[in-house]
Amino acid sequence: MKSMLRVLERLSSENYISGEDLSKELGVSRASIWKSISTLRRYGYVISSRKGIGYKLDKRSNLLLPWEVKSGLNTKFIGKEIIHRLRLESTQDLAMSIAKRAEEGTVVIAEEQSKGRGRIDRRWSSPAGGIWFSLILKPKIELEKITVLPLSMGLAIVDSLAEIGLDAKLKWPNDVMINGKKIAGILIEFTSEIDSIDAIVIGIGINANIKKEELGIDNATTLIEEFKHEVDRVDLMKRMLSNIEKRYIQFLNKEESIIEDYKSKCITLKKRVIVRYMEEEFNADALDVDENGALLVMLDNNTTRRIIAGDVSIR
Ligand code: BTN
Repeated sequence: MKSMLRVLERLSSENYISGEDLSKELGVSRASIWKSISTLRRYGYVISSRKGIGYKLDKRSNLLLPWEVKSGLNTKFIGKEIIHRLRLESTQDLAMSIAKRAEEGTVVIAEEQSKGRGRIDRRWSSPAGGIWFSLILKPKIELEKITVLPLSMGLAIVDSLAEIGLDAKLKWPNDVMINGKKIAGILIEFTSEIDSIDAIVIGIGINANIKKEELGIDNATTLIEEFKHEVDRVDLMKRMLSNIEKRYIQFLNKEESIIEDYKSKCITLKKRVIVRYMEEEFNADALDVDENGALLVMLDNNTTRRIIAGDVSIR
């Protein structure tokens, strides 16, 4: 791995470079250089080779490889440790299994998930081209404030999409929407002892370079659909990690300001909604979001209700 990354570094700063020069400069055998080049190609780097001249990097990989995501990343602790897999059942499972011993800010990324999970036991379609990752956080805060944390993550996604030119909004609690269609979602899970939380695993899924048909979901959109071309996923991933860190620090220091910012982006408020929770389903008017992130609604019999979980659709 180390010599592969050194080969990549040299190729990034040169036009053509010969295998012999690479091997001399890096102090490794020609066979090892050849192995590094073929591994890089397998990771999706396009490297041309010309007899008697050498190798040239034509195109970087578009996978979310840790060294690509970390390069130029301006965070203090989010994404300092990145675990990357081409395919996982769910990044949540791997992140949950290491959460207790992992450093805060560790990120688990998969190019594809075969059993991606959504909120309320739903399936989350996760083909290649999307951005699917789980983030391990260990905030030392009162338990009741935990519910504000996912709202801050929703804001970080909205911030990142705004940076690339999209006006995204939030549907309570955490659906990231563009013109009424869902583009990203957030799932929060915990590992806990009896009376305290060890770690929180935040799962984030963004429908990035995916064609709508591939997703197979009504009422959803993708970045390809919005832009009509592919986006630079590595760039977006860096923006996400950076905005996540900013919003997380804001949450730790001044969580009431997260609620204020959240409300300004929430499209559920002042709307007529249908609330589905467990076996119940009812119509109501969405009034406000309280200090713990719960949705306050007014029922048709003029009583108010505090919704902490479930599905709320806008009529
Ligand atoms: C939702 O229902 O809106 C939440 C979707 C969360 C999906 C992400 S993708 C990465 C992580 N791994 C999973 O299995 N789910 C989350």
